[in-house]
Amino acid sequence: MNAIPSKLKLLVPPIGNFFTRLPLEAAFKFQDRKRFISSRRFVSPSFNDVRLILNSAQLMAVTTHGALQLATFDGDVTLYDDGQSLEPDSPIIARMIDLLLKNVKIGIVTAAGYTTEDRYYARLHGLLDAIAQSTVLTPQQRQNIVIMGGEANYMFEFSPTSPHLLAPVPRERWLTAEMATWSDTSITALLDVAEAALRDCIKTLSLPASLMRKDRAVGIIPSDPNVRIPRESLEETVLVVQKILELSVRGTERNNNIVPFCAFNGGRDVFVDIGDKSWGVAVCQEWFGRKNGHRPTSIRPEETLHVGDQFLSAGSNDFKARSVATTAWIASPTETVDLLDELADFMTKKLS
Ligand code: IMP
Ligand code: MG
Repeated sequence: MNAIPSKLKLLVPPIGNFFTRLPLEAAFKFQDRKRFISSRRFVSPSFNDVRLILNSAQLMAVTTHGALQLATFDGDVTLYDDGQSLEPDSPIIARMIDLLLKNVKIGIVTAAGYTTEDRYYARLHGLLDAIAQSTVLTPQQRQNIVIMGGEANYMFEFSPTSPHLLAPVPRERWLTAEMATWSDTSITALLDVAEAALRDCIKTLSLPASLMRKDRAVGIIPSDPNVRIPRESLEETVLVVQKILELSVRGTERNNNIVPFCAFNGGRDVFVDIGDKSWGVAVCQEWFGRKNGHRPTSIRPEETLHVGDQFLSAGSNDFKARSVATTAWIASPTETVDLLDELADFMTKKLS
């Protein structure tokens, strides 16, 4: 670590670590050819222009300076529209299979927390069926995909002989050493505090919401699916619950018995999950790294790309992945398709 902080760090203190160099000039020229940014006379470069330039720079870096080994994807808004599923006609599927063909490992790191494989099959059946039916993927390449659900709580691997094409992987096979120290008592205690705080918010803000408690998460969802909870109320709820949890964790802190959590605004709901996507992505890095015959160590951050839609720092769950991987910020499944085409293009250029 540098003793003297960079100018960027002084200007933006919460800026994270950069795992690769970012070829910004090349990325700008690339996006300018697509978006004609410099041809505009009245509209200055926008937030979206900058976001897409940074995505291109990151893709260039993970394909030219390093070799991409692991791509992790968020679910809602990244692979499919919010609350929907990956249907067989999604253009994303062929592109994900293409990544597997290039021996890139895939982790689907979603907050959606289900304990059984049928629920994940329901969300991802288009992709899972395509992998099962593919005549080009090798049996090894088929095993190069895992689902990490509930941020970092449930793992499933591809299983061609199972009815839902997925098999649960017992926690003791994938928990990292640090995660294994999170005790059930601390997890329950944290969720109890979160539940009380959420119930309080429902009352104080008169939210048209019901509480949903799971074994590794607690959240609020609209009581009537046709009613939307106002964005401001969702954000307020996230910030209130986060503050209450931080104060309560500090109050009961006992050496290494601190359980990390992630409180976030899911667009229509608010959830507090045990762990966060930095743990979910780290599990994928360790899982696939261990299987790497010639070099059985974790896949490194600069060899990993996490693609997601939630990167606004306050209460956004993909943001947490930024601490263990390079990231690309998309705004819709259509943008994910464009991003994967760009990635394939850069990977091919590198090979040729
Ligand atoms: P993601 O975009 O794939 O990370 O999924 C986030 C969405 O999953 C949330 O907005 C919720 O609607 C939904 N969800 C379902 N179960 C859970 C859970 O246990 N924790 C967090 N989100 C959940
Ligand atoms: Mg999402």
